[in-house]
Amino acid sequence: MLAQPDLYALGAAGWQIFDLPAALEEESELERFLALWSPGRIELQTLVVEPERALLASSGRAMSLHTDNTYLDRPCRYVGLYCIEPGVGGRSLLLDGLDAIAGMHAADRERLGQRAWYWRHGRTRSVSGPHRVIDTSGEVRWWRTNLCVYDEAFLATAERLEQHLLRSPRIVSLVLERGQLLLIDNKRMLHGRTQVTSNERTMVRIRIWT
Ligand SMILES: [Fe+2]
Repeated sequence: MLAQPDLYALGAAGWQIFDLPAALEEESELERFLALWSPGRIELQTLVVEPERALLASSGRAMSLHTDNTYLDRPCRYVGLYCIEPGVGGRSLLLDGLDAIAGMHAADRERLGQRAWYWRHGRTRSVSGPHRVIDTSGEVRWWRTNLCVYDEAFLATAERLEQHLLRSPRIVSLVLERGQLLLIDNKRMLHGRTQVTSNERTMVRIRIWT
């Protein structure tokens, strides 16, 4: 019998890999399966890597450590990646954001906790904010790429955070195999990707609001 994603296991580590049957390759089947586990809103998008694509997720380019939906007032709770065809390269990178930020200097942590951070929506180009990078409840929001910074001190903190994340010895690096689902707590974990070096990669990106 197919095991459902274990919310408690995910909570302990912040991420989890599940082996799913090939029958779930259709988006509708995958959505039905996920809906058994979560009653919240679910968005699926099948991403086929083509190097010339403008959308970063489909381009195969490396992606720095980030959370999804930084530009939304209410980002999705979970991000998932279901592997239909792994291709070559494109290792998934994971890092506990709160844990990583805890290692920064107090002045940087204080700035990151201020409601003073803005992000630009990738498609509409509209700017949203102010948000906090680290919330009082411990939730994390971060993406250097679309960050809009209007203050020198905040820009310096942003660059230090990015370097701090890059150098972290706690980054988990893994390769997804065909039929595997990686589920990530998007309020706690940062995720990223190394460059994809072949065109045969197909993944379904999943976002779940609870
Ligand atoms: Fe992402």
